[in-house]
Amino acid sequence: MQDVVAQLTELRETAYLGGGQRRIDAQHSKGKLTARERIEVFLDPGSFEEWDMFVAHRCRDFGMEEQTIPGDGVVTGHGTVDGRLVFVFSQDFTVFGGSLSETHAEKICKILDQAMKVGAPVIGINDSGGARIQEGVASLGGYAEVFQRNVSASGVVPQISMIMGPCAGGAVYSPSITDFVFMVEDTSYMYVTGPDVVKTVTHEIVTHEELGGASTHTTKSGVADKAFTNDVEALLELRRFVSFLPSSCQKKAPNWPSDDDPDRDIHSLDALVPDDPLKPYDMKEVIVKMVDEGDFFELQPNYAANILIGFGRMDGSTVGFVANQPMVLAGCLDIPASIKAARFVRFCDAFSIPVVTLVDVPGFMPGTSQEYGGIITHGAKLLYAYAEATVPKVTVITRKAYGGAYDVMASKHLRGDANYAWPRAEIAVMGAQGAVEIIFRKDMDNPEEIAKRTEEYKEAFANPYAAAKRGYIDDVIMPHGTRRRVCKALRMLKDKKLTNPPRKHGNIPL
Ligand code: HXC
Repeated sequence: MQDVVAQLTELRETAYLGGGQRRIDAQHSKGKLTARERIEVFLDPGSFEEWDMFVAHRCRDFGMEEQTIPGDGVVTGHGTVDGRLVFVFSQDFTVFGGSLSETHAEKICKILDQAMKVGAPVIGINDSGGARIQEGVASLGGYAEVFQRNVSASGVVPQISMIMGPCAGGAVYSPSITDFVFMVEDTSYMYVTGPDVVKTVTHEIVTHEELGGASTHTTKSGVADKAFTNDVEALLELRRFVSFLPSSCQKKAPNWPSDDDPDRDIHSLDALVPDDPLKPYDMKEVIVKMVDEGDFFELQPNYAANILIGFGRMDGSTVGFVANQPMVLAGCLDIPASIKAARFVRFCDAFSIPVVTLVDVPGFMPGTSQEYGGIITHGAKLLYAYAEATVPKVTVITRKAYGGAYDVMASKHLRGDANYAWPRAEIAVMGAQGAVEIIFRKDMDNPEEIAKRTEEYKEAFANPYAAAKRGYIDDVIMPHGTRRRVCKALRMLKDKKLTNPPRKHGNIPL
């Protein structure tokens, strides 16, 4: 018996050491935790159940038969976050650079398959040099097996990728299929091909950071949802993020009791919107003041900042917020903003998370760069996402809702359930001045006439009542009552049932 225990202990110790102390030290010297340390920080203490610790690769080329390390470069298993089941895989950079072999892929696939069967989120901690070069096509096959499962699991269980090291080649496509991608500043990179290949093909000289660092993907490409300053912060924030999500499409997001009164009035909102319609104000303030205990997890804060997205809770339940941000580009909808919000709305809809939309939008962004870039197609993504969504949709127009953007932003016509407007909202085809300059173009050399017509237009349309008269707005509400009214609407919608016509799947304008 003692022999058996000793053998098991020795095997486990070998596995725990991964690629050896020298490589562990190298990992630490870069400010990175090891695969196992990351799991420890992320999961509830003592909850991790490891699987496949003894799996070894089957490669017999390039002397690989001499180098087998139990676990083969990825630590997999399940555990809990705040007592809720999650599955996790964490790539071990100390073992062949965390590269993906056939068996490494099989371990990840096993986790994804099991998570789908029991309905629990999958968290991938990525730190990998990509396909295991010694294995050739076997590792490519492994990647494709993972991709297939990522796609099959999409909309079934939440999938989150935490990028904590290099992520090159095939390694970027699995994260990009998952629902959310987070990165760590200065130590994580994502690119299809690295700086050397870029130099050869396009003659551009770029650093790893410029090409695929956290700053690039959270500001320029929008590939990553958020970046954190170090491993520990990233993993603790990931715990907080998971607390907002349901375990699967079959389950509701957890309700976290709070002492924050759902009927709480927010008097400062009454003075938030400036008298001058051209002056901006911070829409994030509205969200932070509305949600339980001011706890708002914003996503993509530095990308397409003209639209805000993220999760908060109202009366204990998770809500997805989408809001125009008048502080950036006057809150216009442009290509990046439309894509950013559309994907978020689809996630919320897939996982039965109600969407609260705050509207202050002067329209779609005009101009050749937008038209050449395909604003028509990309703007339609957001329209499609809202129209397709069957989750509870509560909309509050805080100021402007002009033109097509009015329609798009969860209007009544796109099956908005509860549509409210603040008293100074303007719901119209366009602003008064622009409208008069078109309809009364012939009077443009008569400023008095134009001023009179502008006043007339303002009176008729620069208010919420033209829309309210038609029932497009369910009520005009005081800003200070917004939390109370939205909480009430969400309570009313708790058991909402709405289905789309049966079909294989729709054809969103991708
Ligand atoms: C096998 C690998 C490896 C790989 C790294 N290693 N990448 N082993 N396959 N893909 C090993 C190294 O040999 C080294 O082993 C250890 O991991 C650490 O690597 P270093 O280079 O010393 O580390 P660092 O300087 O930090 O650089 C990390 C790196 C670099 C940027 C990831 O290693 C690198 O560029 N690797 C290759 C990336 C790549 O081209 N991958 C294939 C992409 S193509 P020792 O024994 O010295 O510790 C692809 C196709 C899939 O993925 C397509 C599917 C659709």
